[in-house]
Amino acid sequence: MTDSEIRRFADGEALAKGAAQLFVRLSEQAIHDGGRFSVALSGGSTPKVMHRVLANEFADDVAWAKVHIFWGDERTVSPEHEDSNFRMAKQTLLDHVPIPAANIYRMQGELEPKAAANAYQDTLSEYFGGLVGKDWPEFDLIFLGIGEDGHTASLFPYTEALRVTDQWVVANHIPKMETWRITLTAPVINAAKTIAFLVAGESKAETLREVINGPYLPEQFPSQYIEPVSGRLLWMVDEAAASLV
Ligand code: 6PG
Repeated sequence: MTDSEIRRFADGEALAKGAAQLFVRLSEQAIHDGGRFSVALSGGSTPKVMHRVLANEFADDVAWAKVHIFWGDERTVSPEHEDSNFRMAKQTLLDHVPIPAANIYRMQGELEPKAAANAYQDTLSEYFGGLVGKDWPEFDLIFLGIGEDGHTASLFPYTEALRVTDQWVVANHIPKMETWRITLTAPVINAAKTIAFLVAGESKAETLREVINGPYLPEQFPSQYIEPVSGRLLWMVDEAAASLV
């Protein structure tokens, strides 16, 4: 049975602060228990506010030398490109906290997509150990967003990556966007100790209702594939996004 909880916040700012405090709390716990904290960041716009709050208000509460930053997905662009999830995190968080460069594990969106996915799989295997297709890396925290079409990470509706159960990272072709993305697969996300969706704004209300309360249609709403195996799932939502839940 999935351990899941909906945490409602008044607005985007309160949501961002709550998510930043979650980052701090889980980093303290992971570093106390195991000496390091592994977190996968999400792309898009919602995380930007949380990154800025984390850097501006809570940076001193985090042992950055023991924090290891990964990504849940990346666009197939260079790290300097305006669409790069790495670039967004660098500008809003990583350039403003004392995290060692060696602790930042970028998905190489500039590579041929399948090569980028394989390279990231090697990166994860080196950090977490384990055999691809046999074991699953256990992130301490994975942040996710949700698109209006119900996608999360780069697990888009009716795409090949949704059905992958023997790889940790894949190149996923997104026909409707005529592009490729690099993404963690659902089993990797589901192996995490804590999965936190950050969802803000009225534009997400209908999708959130379908994903949380609607029929189980994960091909149409891939966020429904996210069900932690033994960890917990937090829906961190503002009132506007939660208005129909
Ligand atoms: C990406 C993200 C993607 C994002 C959703 C929601 O690379 O774009 O990983 O899955 O989380 O599209 O984006 P917003 O938070 O900007 O609405």
